[in-house]
Amino acid sequence: MTSPMINPDFSQNLVRWFKDNKRDLPWRRTNNPYYIWISEIMLQQTQVDTVIPYFNAFINQFPEPEILAQADESQVLKAWEGLGYYSRARNLHQGVKEVVESYGGHVPDNKKDIRSIKGIGPYTAGAILSIAFNQPEPAVDGNVMRVMSRVLLIDDDTSKQQTKQTFERILSDIIPEHEASAFNQGLMELGALICKPKQPLCEHCPVREQCLAFDEGVQTEYPVKKKKAKQRHEYYGVLFVQNDTGDVLIRQRPDQGLLAGLWEFPMVAFNHPNESISDVLEKQDVLLSLESTGIQFTHTFTHIKWHMDIYKARTFDRELQESFGGYWVNQEDLDQYPFPVSHQKVIQKLRAI
Ligand code: ADE
Repeated sequence: MTSPMINPDFSQNLVRWFKDNKRDLPWRRTNNPYYIWISEIMLQQTQVDTVIPYFNAFINQFPEPEILAQADESQVLKAWEGLGYYSRARNLHQGVKEVVESYGGHVPDNKKDIRSIKGIGPYTAGAILSIAFNQPEPAVDGNVMRVMSRVLLIDDDTSKQQTKQTFERILSDIIPEHEASAFNQGLMELGALICKPKQPLCEHCPVREQCLAFDEGVQTEYPVKKKKAKQRHEYYGVLFVQNDTGDVLIRQRPDQGLLAGLWEFPMVAFNHPNESISDVLEKQDVLLSLESTGIQFTHTFTHIKWHMDIYKARTFDRELQESFGGYWVNQEDLDQYPFPVSHQKVIQKLRAI
């Protein structure tokens, strides 16, 4: 596809609007590529308001690449606790180690080297190169595709990888040579504040005169996106087991897959919502006398919904940890382990009763 025509006023209006209206966000007070990198990773999948305190705490704890590189993974996951999508944190940690080992702690300022770093894909590379180094590289995420699909009436399916590349090509042609940072951040800011998914505030939009969707009144019909697969429901009994000294059984999740490497209370998977937990445990040869707490809640991931039902138990059997591949820990030490939000909720709910 050849690049569609774009009105030359578009870039100028966008850049001017961004400079006059941008929110004062902590990562906008710096050009430090390491800080920009951290912010961009946190901002993938997470709202700005949620990210702000995590970002501030993270750069406080790990102010330089060398310090993050030397940290244990569990410290990094602890700092990320509650943000979700934890592989982001592990990849960032790995990537920063590479920067320290191979580039003397300086984030590379060229596409080839930066793209070779763990966890830095086309979006993050474009964001760091443009925001920290003002290089005219596109940074295309879902918000940018929404804005540009409206401006240019592009009806390609934005859930496809190829469509992202189409937008990257188009934007490469129109990013102003010397205003790449304000242009890319302007697109992000426009997507967040004005060109919203459901009710775009076109009356306040700086580029509505250049927007083909506004011209035709079809802005909410864009972007075109194939429907997501349906969510899968999973049902679990969550076990809060204490031994005779009051220690609690926790275990670490496998180092691959969902919530890899985080800690949790043992979970027993049900085959259907009404299965009895004692039946499941019996089949696994686990002897445990359980007390239902009556606490049930759900936790939603992108594709999965966990239905969690909390049980308590006391046991004299110290060897029980082997059945669950876990460890006994003192209750007071629980907050030294990185737990996913779903299991932090277990702690909070049990403390509340
Ligand atoms: N979303 C992604 N990157 C962003 C940034 N730098 N500022 C605000 N929102 C963003």
